[in-house]
Amino acid sequence: MVTVQAIKTVGVVGAGAMGSQIAMVCALAGYPVILQDIEHKQLGESSQTLRELMDKKVRKGRLPSEEVEDAFSNITYTTNLNDLESADIIIEAIVEKLEVKRELFYQLSQIVPRHTVLATNSSTIVSSKLVDVVSYPEKMCNIHFFNPALVMDLVEVVQGEHTSGETAEKCMNFVRSIRKTPVLLKKEISGFIANRILGKLMDEAVWLYENGYATHEEIDLVCKKALNHPIGPFALMDLTGIDVNYFVRKQRYEESGDPKDKPASIVADKVAKGELGRKTGKGFYEYNEQGKRIEETV
Ligand SMILES: NC(=O)c1ccc[n+]([C@@H]2O[C@H](COP(=O)([O-])OP(=O)(O)OC[C@H]3O[C@@H](n4cnc5c(N)ncnc54)[C@H](O)[C@@H]3O)[C@@H](O)[C@H]2O)c1
Repeated sequence: MVTVQAIKTVGVVGAGAMGSQIAMVCALAGYPVILQDIEHKQLGESSQTLRELMDKKVRKGRLPSEEVEDAFSNITYTTNLNDLESADIIIEAIVEKLEVKRELFYQLSQIVPRHTVLATNSSTIVSSKLVDVVSYPEKMCNIHFFNPALVMDLVEVVQGEHTSGETAEKCMNFVRSIRKTPVLLKKEISGFIANRILGKLMDEAVWLYENGYATHEEIDLVCKKALNHPIGPFALMDLTGIDVNYFVRKQRYEESGDPKDKPASIVADKVAKGELGRKTGKGFYEYNEQGKRIEETV
């Protein structure tokens, strides 16, 4: 009988928006976490941002301060990739560039023991695009958290053809153990489930707007009042960054060559003008310095 090695220590690579919060989610669940980034400065910023976020949760009574302090003491920050040697699962959350991820997984594969699960949090790059650089393909998959990881409950686990059933099961159990709801995709597809569905909604919203059927405010209003969505597609694009939508479509177009996958011209125009949404003060709507919408025309 094969013994399945338990997950005792978690490694997270990349201490940006996603990696920092993924590390904290795991630390809150009681796992020792090694959080690695190539930038020393980024580790400091990650720790500071997490401190502000978690203090706010304590002040609002959402988490007891002892639990938060225990979680902080579970996190070790490092720039040394070799420190991940003791991790039983590693979640990669670095920049969305295929070649950079491939180089990282090659290096990781030289460092970690055979039982370690190697997972990428990428939203678009499936693990089969990375798997030829690692020694044990059966231990590799996608584990896709949503932003902000501390808040969003769902996690998509994506099994490639190379991923063993045991690894998929281990990841599903791991996600449950960090108090999230996992869904297993038994076959790989870029974008996975949530973002593919959201993408279709966004495309239709942009098409209706570009073709003059309604304004972006009206389309957002319909989605909120008729479909009960908490936020309309244009307000959501402003929130996540219009450039994110643009780069996802650009990447898909480059892969498929299908003109239908090209970024919509209204989106490309906004990106060219630097109107990227809330983070630049203007996107489909305008925002003040606190990130609040300036004018609500509907
Ligand atoms: N931002 C989102 O909404 C979101 C949601 C789900 C998944 N993702 C995925 O998560 C990943 C990270 O996204 P993010 O928004 O946190 O990015 P980010 O730019 O905020 O953070 C990336 C971090 O990786 C570090 N880094 C870059 N190269 C590295 C290397 N070789 N080794 C170690 N660290 C390295 C950078 O210094 C940076 O701190 C991407 O693959 C993205 O597709 C993002």
